[in-house]
Amino acid sequence: MLDWEHIFATRSSRMRASEIRELLKLLEQPDIISFAGGIPDPALFPDEAFKQAYADIFSGPQVNAALQYSVSEGYKPLREWLVGEMAKIGIPCSVDNVFITSGSQQALDYLGKLFLSTKDTALVTWPTYLGALQAFNAYEPAYDQLSLNGNRTPDGYREAAAKAGGAVKFAYLSSDFSNPTGETVDRAGREKLLELADELDVAIIEDAAYQNLRYDGEPVPPIMALDIARNGGIENTRTIYSGSFSKTLAPGLRVGFVVAAMPVIRKLVLMKQAADLHSSTINQIAIAHVAERIFPEQVAKIKKAYSARRDAMLAALDKYMPAGATWTKPEGGMFVWVRLPEGMDGAELLARSIQTEKVAFVPGKAFYADGSNNNTLRLSFSCASEAMIEEGIQRLGRLISTAVAEAA
Ligand SMILES: Cc1ncc(COP(=O)(O)O)c(C=O)c1O
Repeated sequence: MLDWEHIFATRSSRMRASEIRELLKLLEQPDIISFAGGIPDPALFPDEAFKQAYADIFSGPQVNAALQYSVSEGYKPLREWLVGEMAKIGIPCSVDNVFITSGSQQALDYLGKLFLSTKDTALVTWPTYLGALQAFNAYEPAYDQLSLNGNRTPDGYREAAAKAGGAVKFAYLSSDFSNPTGETVDRAGREKLLELADELDVAIIEDAAYQNLRYDGEPVPPIMALDIARNGGIENTRTIYSGSFSKTLAPGLRVGFVVAAMPVIRKLVLMKQAADLHSSTINQIAIAHVAERIFPEQVAKIKKAYSARRDAMLAALDKYMPAGATWTKPEGGMFVWVRLPEGMDGAELLARSIQTEKVAFVPGKAFYADGSNNNTLRLSFSCASEAMIEEGIQRLGRLISTAVAEAA
């Protein structure tokens, strides 16, 4: 066999399959109750609306355009629809501030490529979205822990970045119902972040993948809206807002979007020309068609289903988890984050859980840029029925109670 390693670029050395992904392959067993995948429930996809959209495209005058190459910025009527949605959440912008991506995952890759030279620092929350770390890793950055409680000074961040061999370039965070913790950054935290980013003169990447999925509590204005309110307009902002249709309509079409000041959008357009020319024309048209017709009803439908599952999971955790375990109480999204007593290992627990209890989850350590905090777990409630959630958490509670007793 060829020795590929010495001809692969150094950046590829940080692209590795995690041991967790290997474990999660075991999930293909049919009798597992899975809280592992952070994916939407396919039973909630608006498949009829998509069927109609594609039928209309294929039977109408748009068919040739839909099958043809198109512009890198994205399908204009979709961008226009997004301008209307952004205005509703305090982000007045023009169509030129909106850029369509192949899922918001592509935005993370492009933003890594745009900002990070080797050894530059990305500030990320501890824990953060694993896919963001994977996207940024290709650009060989250093990571530093973004702290939103003000216990770090701008100089502290600057010095750490210089020590790592570069400069701080951006802070990345998931502002609402984050993956993996389900938590939302409050308004004071968002304002603090804007102040920190001003002092450091860096960008903020606001990952809003779950923003539409609020089940209760008061909405917090997006960081980008606060940035616009402070600075008088989108062209003066340093926030880059990344959104997605994956959690609301369907992930398989791969349509996401970025909203930002025009100098950023212009660079992203050039990047897209080099990378994949444009996102699927027909899928963008179909997303626009479905969003224009049923977006509010679809969001209401999924919120109803997911909030009942969230409630079922929180109630079951209260009932079955042993003393010493704590967990988040998310107001939306798809995740609950569990912290076990110090010294317990989430990956070991997963191996045992799959074998003896047939329940799956994601061990939390993968979401930490430094691989710490192995006593944490991510539970997703999006795909299991309320009855399965009760049963699965009961089994998990039994396993964790046994493990806690063994450790004592
Ligand atoms: C926080 C967050 N950002 C981005 C993504 C990427 O989603 P997509 O590329 O489907 O828009 C996900 C997917 O799970 C996510 O959880």
